[in-house]
Amino acid sequence: MLLPIENLLAKDSVLQLRQHLENAEWLDGKRTAGALARNVKDNLQLDENSDVARSLSQAVMQAISQHPLFVSATLPEKFYPPRFNCYQGGGSYGLHIDSSIMKRDDGATVRTDISGTLFLSDSDEYEGGELAIETPFGAQEVKLNSGDLILYPSTSLHEVKPVTKGKRFAAFFWIQSLVPDANKREQLFELDQSIQVLTVDRGAEDQEVRRLSGLYHNLMRLWSQP
Ligand code: NI
Repeated sequence: MLLPIENLLAKDSVLQLRQHLENAEWLDGKRTAGALARNVKDNLQLDENSDVARSLSQAVMQAISQHPLFVSATLPEKFYPPRFNCYQGGGSYGLHIDSSIMKRDDGATVRTDISGTLFLSDSDEYEGGELAIETPFGAQEVKLNSGDLILYPSTSLHEVKPVTKGKRFAAFFWIQSLVPDANKREQLFELDQSIQVLTVDRGAEDQEVRRLSGLYHNLMRLWSQP
């Protein structure tokens, strides 16, 4: 499932982030690419150990982990925290699949179930730079506005098309979900979204709302792998 979440980050937060990003020191993105991705990766990345990268990463983490739609869709167990990249001057990232297991700075490993890209440039600030994701229904091209997030299964082949004009800033991160199976996770998301609507409609005390909430939790019990 490809899920866009608009305005995950408020415009004033985006502006603050952008100010830091535009003044930051950038490194060659090949530095952090695996052996296979190195040949197709042509972008810039913020040094993840720099103070600015750490504090921006924390700000993004805070926004995503508190967002109800994000939590409902991903059922996060662990995060590989946000990093930042910039594409410009024809830079691109050819077709690839993200590494399945990533090692965090604190030594913990994260299985990448879901990939997230948070756009930090508006779509009219640059030309090209579409995130093209292969799905069972063909390749889907994604180009959102600043503050908008796209979530996609980490199992999908994807690429970032060349940015031929302007700069494309983004944050990217990965989630290990409590429910590793994407299909099961999607059913839980559908159910949870309906329960939310019914709860507003009928109130949390409604018997059918309670039954469905019970069903949701029992499915979580069956399908989660904490
Ligand atoms: Ni990727």
